[in-house]
Amino acid sequence: MIIDELQELEQESILRGIPIVGREKGFWLLQKIQEIKPQKILELGTANGYSGIILGSQKGELTTIEINEKIAAEAKENFRGFGINAHVIVGDGVVEVQKLAEKKKEFFDLIFIDFAKRKYLTVLEDCITLVKRNGFIIADNITMEGCQDFKEAVLTHPKLKTEIINIKDGLSCSEKMSSLP
Ligand SMILES: C[S@@+](CC[C@H](N)C(=O)[O-])C[C@H]1O[C@@H](n2cnc3c(N)ncnc32)[C@H](O)[C@@H]1O
Repeated sequence: MIIDELQELEQESILRGIPIVGREKGFWLLQKIQEIKPQKILELGTANGYSGIILGSQKGELTTIEINEKIAAEAKENFRGFGINAHVIVGDGVVEVQKLAEKKKEFFDLIFIDFAKRKYLTVLEDCITLVKRNGFIIADNITMEGCQDFKEAVLTHPKLKTEIINIKDGLSCSEKMSSLP
């Protein structure tokens, strides 16, 4: 299982203080990926590629955005090592998602948000534009203080059906409705 293969990268990340999703949330993510088999995946917040390797492990095509050039280079190396079909965009997630949303509508099967917590709400509408109907927007650290406006928005948004996953500091999992208001 990919989670076991990632044990070394997880340990290294913990030692270096790189805030990856880790084994428990990673296992939930893997199950979700195995269930929905996304072909096109977008991630905001690559870090060293730990979650990206899980997201791309079922042969999906991963686009992932990271602001820090050095850690993005590590992610590229790790994606190569694990044979992940990944395109890493080095840049600000807010700007890059806006650019993508101007070009592509309902393009991704799954979007994973795990970057600057106070920017989650800023990217929400662009992510809703970018995700397909019946596709998913998953966000990490949903119980953290900076994410509360986002949490409220996804729980009450008329285009989304959202559940909160209570693993560690939580994930939100929102499905875009097939018939939109
Ligand atoms: C929690 S870590 C991501 C962990 C990764 N998803 C994983 O679990 O393996 C958050 C990452 O977001 C990046 N980041 C912070 N602000 C950003 C921004 N505005 N645009 C893109 N990336 C950003 C940080 O450099 C950091 O690497």
